[in-house]
Amino acid sequence: MTDLEYQSGFGNEFATEAVAGALPDGRNSPQRPAFGLYAEQLSGTAFTVTRDHNRRSWLYRMRPSAMHGRFEPYSGGERIETAPISGAAFEPNRLRWSPLEMPEAELDWVDGLVTWAGNGAADSQTGIAIHLYAANRSMEGRAFFNADGEVLIVPQMGALRIVTEMGVLDVAPNEICVIPRGMKFRVELVDGEARGYVCENYGAAFRLPDLGPIGSNGLANARDFLTPVAAYEDSDEPVELVQKFSGSLWSTTLDHSPFDVVAWHGNLVPVKYDLAHFNTIGSISFDHPDPSIFTVLTSPSGNPGTANCDFVIFPPRWLVGEDTFRPPWFHRNIMSEFMGLIHGEYDAKAGGFAPGGASLHNCMSAHGPDKVSTENAMAADLAPQKIDDTMAFMFESCLPIRPTRFAMDTPLLQLDYDSCWDGFDKAQLPS
Ligand SMILES: [Fe+2]
Repeated sequence: MTDLEYQSGFGNEFATEAVAGALPDGRNSPQRPAFGLYAEQLSGTAFTVTRDHNRRSWLYRMRPSAMHGRFEPYSGGERIETAPISGAAFEPNRLRWSPLEMPEAELDWVDGLVTWAGNGAADSQTGIAIHLYAANRSMEGRAFFNADGEVLIVPQMGALRIVTEMGVLDVAPNEICVIPRGMKFRVELVDGEARGYVCENYGAAFRLPDLGPIGSNGLANARDFLTPVAAYEDSDEPVELVQKFSGSLWSTTLDHSPFDVVAWHGNLVPVKYDLAHFNTIGSISFDHPDPSIFTVLTSPSGNPGTANCDFVIFPPRWLVGEDTFRPPWFHRNIMSEFMGLIHGEYDAKAGGFAPGGASLHNCMSAHGPDKVSTENAMAADLAPQKIDDTMAFMFESCLPIRPTRFAMDTPLLQLDYDSCWDGFDKAQLPS
């Protein structure tokens, strides 16, 4: 990958031009933008949303996006589903899957998506869908946008070069990116093949969580989020444009590249973030905080303090708590938890949860460390300990998460998952 240029910050009002003089000065939509460019606003929130949450950008492009023919149903993407998920039951059972295998056929990022679970409903703009992808070819002559939600991409294997209307991002494993709802993009595979996770967020756009008593610094700092500078393609070659709208995929063919934005300004932008920059905060006395302390981004629901989706990570960190059960404790949670593993081992499981794999612990399902991890933690010498070489994550939602038929029927589903909690010794009460 070559070094790309980025702008730093989260929610900032950026301004960038790939050609000097392309960006209007002092007005959004002048009568005649420079060079015959067309001004176009992309709105990610309703026009009337309060100023602190209002997101929109102005794009100055060689042709208006409206210059396209009729969309027809797209013939691919058979494994992509949209909430409300049908075909499989809501599962109270704890579920775990082995990693998705690489495809035998040639699949690009769009056709390599397979929906694993979801909740809410795309057309009521609540909930999420969780997809996994395994792809072995770059999108060539194709672009995609998602009208149903923003797209949080978590690469697990293989770096991605993501060409967007607003510039180019390189996103490698241990980094994430968020592409706004409606933004056209193309995914190129830097390493020839790629695998990872996607959270399709139908609800409010991901934002940085409030920090409360933590103060003004910590967790994911705004300056570590990177947004591309303007970059454009001047191409009259045909491009298939695929969109996801209300659960279905549609396509049309453009007679030009849709990545023809020469300049833009605004705060509705694609961002990338290196998870290694997360300032992990934890206990320095005893116990450890709820895992919400590891929240990178949150999509709030309409219920104050309750997330439509939190993106949470379990990064390398020191454990120093005295007289403390240090792994994530046993718990039952009103929130529903879908986990993945980018690399390394997760400290609450002694095996079975592999990089590229996944697990689902739905609302009120009892879970926690397996027997081996529990016994090790209860017997451990509690010297300061560094958990290193690991990066697990969680999509946590206030709504129960429904697996798809594919996820329930795949042989990747580990039918013996319950057994990792078998055989705990019974507590011995005084006689
Ligand atoms: Fe949990």
